Amino acid sequence: MGSTEKGVDATNGLTVDISVALKANDPKSVPGLSVEIASAGSSLDDRDYNARQSLLRKARALVTALETPRETMIKHNWAENCPQKVQDIATALEIDPELLSRLMRHISAMGYIKEVGPDEYESTNFSRALTIPIIGDGYPCIMGGCFAAIGHLPAYLKTTNFVMPNSATNGCYQSAYSTKMNFFQYLQAHQPWGTQFNHHMGGYRQGRPAWMDPDFYPVQDRLINGADMAGNAPFLVDIGGNVGHDLAEFLSKHPSTPGRLILQDLPVVIGQIQEGSIDMRIERMEYDFHTEQPVKHARAYYMHSVLHDWPDEVCTSILAQVTAAMKPEYSKLLINENVIPPTQANWQTTGLDMMMLSLFASKERTEVDWRRLLEGAGLKIVKIWGHGEGVESLIECELA
Ligand SMILES: C[S@@+](CC[C@H](N)C(=O)[O-])C[C@H]1O[C@@H](n2cnc3c(N)ncnc32)[C@H](O)[C@@H]1O
Repeated sequence: MGSTEKGVDATNGLTVDISVALKANDPKSVPGLSVEIASAGSSLDDRDYNARQSLLRKARALVTALETPRETMIKHNWAENCPQKVQDIATALEIDPELLSRLMRHISAMGYIKEVGPDEYESTNFSRALTIPIIGDGYPCIMGGCFAAIGHLPAYLKTTNFVMPNSATNGCYQSAYSTKMNFFQYLQAHQPWGTQFNHHMGGYRQGRPAWMDPDFYPVQDRLINGADMAGNAPFLVDIGGNVGHDLAEFLSKHPSTPGRLILQDLPVVIGQIQEGSIDMRIERMEYDFHTEQPVKHARAYYMHSVLHDWPDEVCTSILAQVTAAMKPEYSKLLINENVIPPTQANWQTTGLDMMMLSLFASKERTEVDWRRLLEGAGLKIVKIWGHGEGVESLIECELA
């Protein structure tokens, strides 16, 4: 487990493991809250303000108890307990106790820490999970490097007469942050947001079914069988793979994979990979995907949450670099992205779609969108492998 997948509970100095972030926050409270909600709900007079507030509080507590810390973190960003006295924490952190008291009272009222007495609180699984960089780091980078653009969207759309944004280089993000840089350039130029974003990329996908799991996509049957077994043959190329979390997971789940595993991202990102954080078998390669793909004839090229960052026109040009490197009837392109269903879209997907709209003038795509884009780029979709609500699909493509 890498150092970004562990945290430290400041209240007791104990290590916080990533599993804390992937389990329900407080399952023990669920049966009691369910009974209380059923009872208060069945006799509710919705004109009784206090009764309604009390039921709302219980309902929020039930949601908090059922959610995993990772889900709570995603909701905020995209859409052995030891009670601690405010005074003690304020002294340790050198914060004005009156200020900290107000902040903690609000966080407790929202249900994210537990009040046990006047100015005295316990941590929760959620607050403990925030000490893990891949769970907690999404907050500062999204508050600092994204929220201004999301808040600016209505005013920006007014200036464009509510026309669908489509410029990757001159849109809402650039207007909000008064920059000519794109989102990635801006975050990486304004550290620690860039590093925090990399950690967030390692966290947002945790605890969800992964495409390389046996009940999702048959890796042996579709990728390993028929692959060139020579040691120097490129097997899997992760384009825009950030700091390598997907390839690391792939290697841990398929350790006898043949050939080379190659991680490609911008130099500034590859340069942030810490020694020992990913397996030595994963080759790190600095690469700009707007330029010629240097790795030819790989068994599979893979892109996870990359094309959703770009409008169709830019995606077509990125895809042209991939298709030029693919070997007919051998290479595959695997795209790990949301495929929005015609109805009942999941909130995680729609939340991300709003991020794409304001940060990139891009989008989460429907099946119709994907077919139009990929077929226009000279690819055919062999199959879309799905795994239920809110889980990114694997779109398996070959040259048309
Ligand atoms: C939304 S992140 C997805 C990262 C990773 N695939 C994942 O799912 O966790 C998009 C990635 O594209 C990378 N990227 C942006 N522009 C790039 C470019 N021109 N060439 C290569 N990578 C780029 C970013 O640095 C970032 O790691």
